[in-house]
Amino acid sequence: MAILLPGGAGYIGSHTAIELLNAGKEIIIIDNFSNSKPEVLEKIKEITGKDFKFYEIDYLNRKKLEKVFEENEIEAVLNFAGYKAVGESVKKPIEYYTNNISGALVLLDTMKKYNVKKFIFSSSATVYGEPEKVPITEEFKTGGTTNPYGTTKLFIEQILKDIYKSDNSWDICILRYFNPVGAHESGLIGEEPQGIPNNLMPYIVRVAAGKLQELSVFGNDYPTPDGTGVRDYIHVVDLAKGHVLALKKLDEEKQGLFIYNLGTGKGYSVLDMVKAFEKATGKNVPYKIAPRREGDIAECYANPKKAEVELGWKAEKTLEDMCRDSWNYISRQ
Ligand code: UD1
Repeated sequence: MAILLPGGAGYIGSHTAIELLNAGKEIIIIDNFSNSKPEVLEKIKEITGKDFKFYEIDYLNRKKLEKVFEENEIEAVLNFAGYKAVGESVKKPIEYYTNNISGALVLLDTMKKYNVKKFIFSSSATVYGEPEKVPITEEFKTGGTTNPYGTTKLFIEQILKDIYKSDNSWDICILRYFNPVGAHESGLIGEEPQGIPNNLMPYIVRVAAGKLQELSVFGNDYPTPDGTGVRDYIHVVDLAKGHVLALKKLDEEKQGLFIYNLGTGKGYSVLDMVKAFEKATGKNVPYKIAPRREGDIAECYANPKKAEVELGWKAEKTLEDMCRDSWNYISRQ
């Protein structure tokens, strides 16, 4: 029995593939390389010393997707195939809604057809919109997303809740990621955004590498200790391990719909990140204070207790690990 990973060549999918292989699971990756590279597959094999099946297909292609279900015994699906650039989603809402939502629907419908009902969904803290307070627990209200990317996450969560309501033999886990950063400690795989990065850590790394001149710190007048935005940065390997434990939970529970925050529970400001990065790598990160970025919130960090109690999961890597590993990956490119 295999675990299917649509988007398994991407940033979070590839790190999760490694943790699943290390846990002795059989995996199958499908990917259309829209935001990833074929070399990643070889790196996963190199890191784990294990092999797996791969199909180069778009998960929107129902015929080809069905063939994967025909040819293999699939027990669960972990969906990483989603577009994720916030700014781009504002400019290309149709592409985002089609890829993320129609893609998820094709996948879920195919799963139903082949009676595969174990599903883990990559959601995001973005579904909480602007939280009333921090830390954020899973019970907080969702909604108020400010861009199509975030809204696709919110809608898919609703779709999953409705599917479970209609047929409670499904076994579904929604994982709400906070801010994933870092890379595998081997330095062989990591995050490679196309063009100029929007997210903080990829930007810092490129400034340190001399590829970009300076970081713009978006606002220093937020009601936070140093005035800059506070987020819950989580090492991608910790995040990947959360999926292995979520899968174990689904195996044990057989049916249900579960929601977990995957974060560290600690908030760091933009300037904390700059300082931590400089300390961990010995590199200089020049920055300037710039106006606030539209749609940004002051503070966002998780209460990750539920995942600890119910999954036995806790983020273990430090901010230093996140900075060092991000740099280690990029400086090898
Ligand atoms: C963003 C998305 C979120 C998505 C997540 C994926 C927005 C509004 N939110 O989260 O929906 O799930 O990425 O990782 O885009 N910052 C700078 N300078 C920069 C870049 C960022 O000061 O060049 C600051 C931001 O203002 C923020 C913090 O760094 O305070 C983190 O930003 P970022 O990495 O983009 O993540 P989020 O905005 O939290």
